[in-house]
Amino acid sequence: MKASGGSEAAKRTAGERAAEFVDDGDVVGLGTGSTAAHAIRALGRDVDSGLDCRGIPTSFQSRELAREAGIPLADLDEATPDVAIDGADQVADGDLVKGGGAAHAREKYVDAAADRFVVVVDPSKEADALDHPVPVEVLPDARTVVADRARDLGGDPTLRSAERKDGPVVTDNGNLVLDCEFGTIPDPAALAADLSAVPGVVEHGLFVGLADDVVVGTGDGARVREC
Ligand code: 5RP
Repeated sequence: MKASGGSEAAKRTAGERAAEFVDDGDVVGLGTGSTAAHAIRALGRDVDSGLDCRGIPTSFQSRELAREAGIPLADLDEATPDVAIDGADQVADGDLVKGGGAAHAREKYVDAAADRFVVVVDPSKEADALDHPVPVEVLPDARTVVADRARDLGGDPTLRSAERKDGPVVTDNGNLVLDCEFGTIPDPAALAADLSAVPGVVEHGLFVGLADDVVVGTGDGARVREC
């Protein structure tokens, strides 16, 4: 699993606290990444102890983890998530940059469909303003024209390269990812709308106005902030 900044203890505290948001009978959106993985493992333990819940994975990774943890699976054709629990690469004022694991397209429509979207992070993800590069999933044929439009919008796009494979990262949907550096993003909603309007963009990693709660884990506890 991809490692990211922040201590494992803080991520675990956040994930385990967020798992407490799940009630008996709930359908849960299962996020992607090392922090969401702690929530999935905690839910698996709860299922072992008798919790009745089903999970809707947001990626190959979260599906595999859920299966290992013993969480029954569902999909959006049969159920709507009561809660989604997902990580983030950066959080500012409840808005997020996601997509460090290139799963942001599925994450966005699962997280957005949930009645309650709970974000789990360690303190290294908190910022006063979003300035993390924005991952943009693109149809492979469109990567050059989308990169040009990203530059028109003030961004500096880089095609994400794979590790332990020559060539680019290919998403679970068979697409490519442009990591677009915009510097500080003064108006995330405006940039989100501009990126969504570019033909060839499948989805971008700005999650604006979607989060309901942010759970920040620390070494010795968790803070929960309503958005
Ligand atoms: C995957 C994501 C992840 O949730 C995000 O990258 C955070 O991951 P981690 O908890 O490992 O730092 O958006 O696409």
